[in-house]
Amino acid sequence: MLLSKIKGKRVAIGIIGLGYVGLPLAIEIAKNGYKVLGIDIDIDKINYLNEGISYIDGVTNEDLKYLIKNKLLMVTTDSTILKTVDCIIICVPTPIDEYKVPNTSYIENSIKEISKNFHRNMLVVLESTTYPGTTEELLLPNLKASGLQPGKDFHLAYSAERMDPGNKEYNVKNTTKVVGGVTDNCTKMAAAFYKNTIGCDVYKVSSPKVAEMCKILENTYRNINIALANEMAIICDKIGIDIWEVIDAAETKPYGFQSFYPGPGVGGHCIPVDPLYLMWKAREYDYHTRLIGISDEINSSMPDFVLEKTIKILNRVNKPLKGAKILMVGVAYKQDIDDIRESPALKVLERLEKEGAIVEYYDPFVPQFRWKSKMYKSKDLAIDKIKEKDIVIITTAHTKMEYNKIVENAQIVFDTKNVTKNMENNRENIIKL
Ligand SMILES: NC(=O)c1ccc[n+]([C@@H]2O[C@H](COP(=O)([O-])OP(=O)(O)OC[C@H]3O[C@@H](n4cnc5c(N)ncnc54)[C@H](O)[C@@H]3O)[C@@H](O)[C@H]2O)c1
Repeated sequence: MLLSKIKGKRVAIGIIGLGYVGLPLAIEIAKNGYKVLGIDIDIDKINYLNEGISYIDGVTNEDLKYLIKNKLLMVTTDSTILKTVDCIIICVPTPIDEYKVPNTSYIENSIKEISKNFHRNMLVVLESTTYPGTTEELLLPNLKASGLQPGKDFHLAYSAERMDPGNKEYNVKNTTKVVGGVTDNCTKMAAAFYKNTIGCDVYKVSSPKVAEMCKILENTYRNINIALANEMAIICDKIGIDIWEVIDAAETKPYGFQSFYPGPGVGGHCIPVDPLYLMWKAREYDYHTRLIGISDEINSSMPDFVLEKTIKILNRVNKPLKGAKILMVGVAYKQDIDDIRESPALKVLERLEKEGAIVEYYDPFVPQFRWKSKMYKSKDLAIDKIKEKDIVIITTAHTKMEYNKIVENAQIVFDTKNVTKNMENNRENIIKL
């Protein structure tokens, strides 16, 4: 039986998609003594992994080499290997297209591969973030087409990954997994899978829809509260109030308030994207999700706000933006990670360049990147490089950065993340969002 095989570590586990979510998960499960087969369509990633080179922060080369050498982890582009596994976890991307419409093609392609290699007693869990209904509408019909019955002949569930990249306190082991299966048996099997393979707490819900919606709620909550902080920052700027001081003051209330902070926008593969999955789904029910629409509008407008404020700041020293020399500090979408997906810093960069500014960037986590077919390379944080710039714009709050060096040498620092908060002198060359 599958349950006893899971408990006895005799299951083979297939993980589809070895990115920010799938690779750390594969490593964690393999480290616990389970045999993991990782599948990815990106041959470069597979080659790196087979050479023992990790491309994900937090996954060490040592762990990778050990697991590959001892055959606890095998990686391939060949999806026919799925035939040999008992449990499949899907960790593929769920982006939106240029019209902000969900792109579920990665999930659909995964399910096609699973269907071709599907067999009795399999457990399939979708971890990708998606709109409520995906598991039952996209996955279930394909698997049922085999003639097998869910909860009896196979198990199907949804359980979102809740990882927070760069978070040193919470990880897959100490974050509760919310699990919802298409039948009670499916929920129990998926719950047993996570309890045994990861050792995390599991919270069972009545259906995949509830589990899918739970993940969307969590990320919509963040998106909307960040939009509120951004709107407050815009109003404070107009009135001439320091938003950061306001938030510090509000934080003294011991209940009923949780701090969120403004910035140049929201980035990453989750917070700006996931609420739009729900927005799209809601239209099927003739409902327009107003809060999500407005918060997306506010967050998306923040790069323009940064652009306008940069123009005003330069204006005060008689400098036009056109031809101005600018150093942007940080292009990752959040602190201490190398991920630039949906990064608002890139949108700021694009707008500055469009207006004729000469922009260089510094980000120790992102040595280089390609953005709209142009290659960018990080500069060193050399004193002469800082001094020669008309303005330095801090767009990501990486910790352990030489902010003192920046502030001491820059003509003007436009700090969109409040990283200069604890600087000893209230220096006049710092302007905050
Ligand atoms: N990154 C995060 O912080 C985070 C956190 C929680 C949830 N999520 C969700 O997890 C999912 C995955 O996100 P990610 O950040 O790991 O994405 P990612 O782009 O880093 O990784 C996805 C991987 O899937 C591979 N892939 C795509 N189609 C495939 C297929 N048919 N077969 C095999 N491999 C395939 C890609 O090549 C890529 O390596 C998304 O739904 C995301 O919303 C992400």
